[in-house]
Amino acid sequence: MWTGVPSTNGIRIKITNMESKINYAYLETTNYCNLDCSFCNRNEVIGALKHMPLDDWKLLLSKIKDHPLKNCKLMGMGEPFLHPEFDLVTSEFKNVFPDCFVIVATNCQYSIKEGSKMRAKFERAIKNLDQLYLSIDGYEESYERDRSPAKWGKLISFLEDLKTVDKGKCDIVVNYVVNAYNIDDIKKVDKLRQDYNLGRLRLNIAQLWGAEDSLSDNIETSGYSIEQLNYLKENWSDKIMGKGNWEFPDCFWVKEGLYTTVDGRVLMCCMNTGARSFGNLFHQDLDSIRASDDFQNVKKGCESNNPTKHCKNCSYKELSPLLKELNVFN
Ligand SMILES: C[S@@+](CC[C@H](N)C(=O)[O-])C[C@H]1O[C@@H](n2cnc3c(N)ncnc32)[C@H](O)[C@@H]1O
Ligand code: SF4
Ligand code: SF4
Repeated sequence: MWTGVPSTNGIRIKITNMESKINYAYLETTNYCNLDCSFCNRNEVIGALKHMPLDDWKLLLSKIKDHPLKNCKLMGMGEPFLHPEFDLVTSEFKNVFPDCFVIVATNCQYSIKEGSKMRAKFERAIKNLDQLYLSIDGYEESYERDRSPAKWGKLISFLEDLKTVDKGKCDIVVNYVVNAYNIDDIKKVDKLRQDYNLGRLRLNIAQLWGAEDSLSDNIETSGYSIEQLNYLKENWSDKIMGKGNWEFPDCFWVKEGLYTTVDGRVLMCCMNTGARSFGNLFHQDLDSIRASDDFQNVKKGCESNNPTKHCKNCSYKELSPLLKELNVFN
């Protein structure tokens, strides 16, 4: 983008690329998954199944290396640890961004039994992570229902084996996606978390990740009863993640975020992963993708509080009244 600005001697000069740098990235390196969770729209948005080859991963990192990434999630619409070289994915990332805070989420539905190859890969990978979310939504029956075909027994074996893993400085926490049917199990999972000496509990109110899906913004018809909302507010509001009072100009993705898929496509955010891509990092550079009209239109729409079609059913916006009701402002 070309912008005229005055130089120190008063003559107008042209500066290229006035876009702010990105500091937050959500990078998918595999879209393979062993589950079909009821709240996840993976099936609607992924293309051909793929693990990103390491050479492509290095190319992608070289395209973003000049951006001062502070936080990164190495995941997307798949189970990260199914990538056959996920340990190398994490070490390559740390080579390029040694100071970035790296988070991965995992569904825990695989074996990390001592002596197994998976265990060795898992141990090498978590050395390069700052935080690992264990996705545990529900307890026994509700867990198996919403994370089908996950098995509760498999989760418990994972947690048992995890006890003997060298965790280094990796903070292992529990991430729980809350819906109207698993609220009563939060306390049981919190107890499980304590029994296994895991880090904090993060509660995420289930979002609808698609431009065409919408939640009602009326709290009474959000799927939760008033009793359930009161229960959440009184017991768990400090564990719930999100922002009440969120408005489109608050969207950080359009200013300093990046979402990429396993095939190099650049999307705007993790809220609309079904959107048409703005470009492809394997063939284009990031600055030109971000300067494109399509990208700029979505950005300007948010900044001017006049969202484009891309953002019309954004979950941040839709959940905002509910989060406000629950006193969540983090
Ligand atoms: C898409 S998953 C990818 C990583 C891995 N497959 C897993 O499930 O942990 C990343 C995180 O998003 C959460 N998630 C999935 N669908 C969600 C939804 N509709 N609303 C909020 N969080 C969701 C998952 O529970 C997980 O913690
Ligand atoms: S395990 Fe993760 S990626 Fe797979 S379906 Fe569930 S939420 Fe989606
Ligand atoms: S859908 Fe739009 S407003 Fe929502 S997070 Fe994405 S870019 Fe931001």
